[in-house]
Amino acid sequence: MKKIIVCLCLLGVPFLSAVAQTEANYDESKVPAFILPPLLVNEEGKRVTSAQEWERDCRPEILSLLADQEYGVMPAGEFETRYEVMATNAKALGGKATSKQVKITFKKGYLERPVVILMYLPNQVKGKAPVFMGYNFGGNQTIHPDPEIVPTSERERGAAQSRWPLDKILAAGYGVITVDCNQVFPDNPEGLPKSVMRLFGIQEEADLQPNTGQAMSAWAWGLSRMLDYLQTDPQVDATKVIAIGHSRLGKAALWAGAQDTRFAAVVSNESGCGGAALSKRAFGETIDIITTKFPYWFCKNFKAYGNNEETLPFDQHELLALIAPRPLYVASAEEDRWADPRGEFLSAKYASEVYRLYGYKGITTEEMPQVNTPVGQRVTYHIRTGKHDITTYDWEQYLRFAVANLK
Ligand code: GCU
Repeated sequence: MKKIIVCLCLLGVPFLSAVAQTEANYDESKVPAFILPPLLVNEEGKRVTSAQEWERDCRPEILSLLADQEYGVMPAGEFETRYEVMATNAKALGGKATSKQVKITFKKGYLERPVVILMYLPNQVKGKAPVFMGYNFGGNQTIHPDPEIVPTSERERGAAQSRWPLDKILAAGYGVITVDCNQVFPDNPEGLPKSVMRLFGIQEEADLQPNTGQAMSAWAWGLSRMLDYLQTDPQVDATKVIAIGHSRLGKAALWAGAQDTRFAAVVSNESGCGGAALSKRAFGETIDIITTKFPYWFCKNFKAYGNNEETLPFDQHELLALIAPRPLYVASAEEDRWADPRGEFLSAKYASEVYRLYGYKGITTEEMPQVNTPVGQRVTYHIRTGKHDITTYDWEQYLRFAVANLK
């Protein structure tokens, strides 16, 4: 085991985490004293001092620990993949974009799992465009009223339009790539048999090992499969694909970016518990709450840490550190206490230690920044005013960040 050397947040109420936490705590003075596993010491207790050593001695250990104990492992297995361009329009959105809808079919024997990728690429960019890629919650047609979008659900066209300010993103020279997360793993307790896990022989609960991945791992896997497609698309700069996600889909974007270093950068919008927020703070949503309410998101092993955070041999700053040295943006909202803004800030700040090994500046401020005031460089953080959501303000920061960091 790693020697625990980081000691934080000694607010005079030690070891409260043993107390049942089914009710969310919103009182900072009741955050338990906790110790985080150090980022630069491996399981044998060896301290690393360079990026090469970190990649050799620490990164693989953290990756397998998180796969085994939190997100779950995707089983090995062969399947076929087929790409089919369903529709393109070189003059979409009043001529600002080229839209494209591509069906990816994963096939194993008689079983097929189709997923439709919706793409808007900026026409002002000649050649390959950098893109933001992330899931939508409820259907491709929800991101914009564009009547050409093939619906993937019953939901209204444009219902989530405020979350996807396409005009702004395109004007900044970036494309948008999105997929309905439900096509990869339906986001409900009955989703497993209809998910891509079927390709790997997992059809029901009884097929799950304690460390088998469920929705979160399947969603991360799906982002990587979409990136496989983007590498074949002549209009996309596959070296500049930024994984982005809001909330549960932010957790998935982080886990995808942690595992698949082809993602050029990662943006976590209010990903909270099981995302950017430190679990050991047990502030807002906790492991017990999330694994009880969403037992199909993580692997079964994760549940054992509910109301038992002091036994966690890892925390979410390690997930963020796996993104290093690639640019990472972590964002919170002031009224989204469920996602623990302070826990998201601290996690991003601690992960910055690994960026330093690579010679990059992350977050250096000690205290939480003021609202609507991003801090940091290669790792940036903001807390905006308002509720749990992804807004135009958030996107404006991500665009500025992408332009500055993805040269
Ligand atoms: C719930 C869940 C969170 C999640 C959020 C979302 O609130 O408890 O963990 O991030 O949904 O995805 O919007």
